[in-house]
Amino acid sequence: MSNPTAKHGLPTRLAHAGLGIAIILQLLTSLGMQAPYPGRAGDFLFGIHSYVGLGALGFVFLFWLVVMLRRRGAEMGLLIPWFSRARIRAVWRDTRKHLEAVLRLRLPAYDEHGPLASAVHGLGLLLMTAMAASGTLYFFINTGNPDAGGWVAVSMFVHKTLANLVWAYLIGHAGLAVLHHYTQHLSLAEMWSFRRRHPAGADRSGHAR
Ligand code: HEM
Ligand code: HEM
Repeated sequence: MSNPTAKHGLPTRLAHAGLGIAIILQLLTSLGMQAPYPGRAGDFLFGIHSYVGLGALGFVFLFWLVVMLRRRGAEMGLLIPWFSRARIRAVWRDTRKHLEAVLRLRLPAYDEHGPLASAVHGLGLLLMTAMAASGTLYFFINTGNPDAGGWVAVSMFVHKTLANLVWAYLIGHAGLAVLHHYTQHLSLAEMWSFRRRHPAGADRSGHAR
């Protein structure tokens, strides 16, 4: 009988929660905020977007640091397989397995450190890094006009081009996590608990016995 928090160490769970909550706030504020334009200051929601965005950059750095230093959880090579032929082949094999299952209208088998899932998690982290970095660059160089040229234009081009992928990642990733929770493959508490140790009495998937 293992405990669910054994799968992800506390530093991983804290970095994940900080980043996850920051990204959700960024997406929500982006729906209603008004950025500064010549003759008009940014509104309150834009203020939240700016400062939570700077916080997101901090959580992104923390997440990468934890991945580099941790002994539990997916290693860096699983999250970023793109520099090894063997790892890339493993991602393709895993992708084929997933497609075959989907074509048979089956939920693909759950593998906690599967090459495909880990590679997608790594791409998600890279995506959030690019969003936080482009937003932070804009924060320090903005002239009060997001349509100004030069680096302001570059940072906003990257930021706005990637924005829809952030929605897609959140919906896909959180949706699959919830689906696997209800099909008993994992428990959301494995990632969303902040206890050092989980109380005994839970089975391998974290669901109480
Ligand atoms: C957009 C914000 C989010 C980002 C950037 C994100 C990123 C990640 C990353 C990089 C991992 C892999 C962690 C590792 O290798 O140690 C992960 C795992 C996980 N995430 Fe998220 N996440 C986000 C939001 C969420 C939300 C809202 C949920 C819950 C509904 C969630 C549930 C999980 C679960 C359960 C795992 C563990 C999967 C497993 O053990 O196989 N995440 N997330
Ligand atoms: C990971 C962190 C961040 C995420 C996920 C994020 C997300 C978003 C999204 C989804 C949009 C809407 C894009 C569109 O509708 O085309 C947006 C716009 C924007 N964001 Fe961020 N953002 C982040 C950090 C920041 C930071 C730190 C700043 C610094 C000030 C910032 C400044 C802006 C600006 C100026 C816009 C354009 C607003 C407009 O023209 O109406 N963002 N962001």
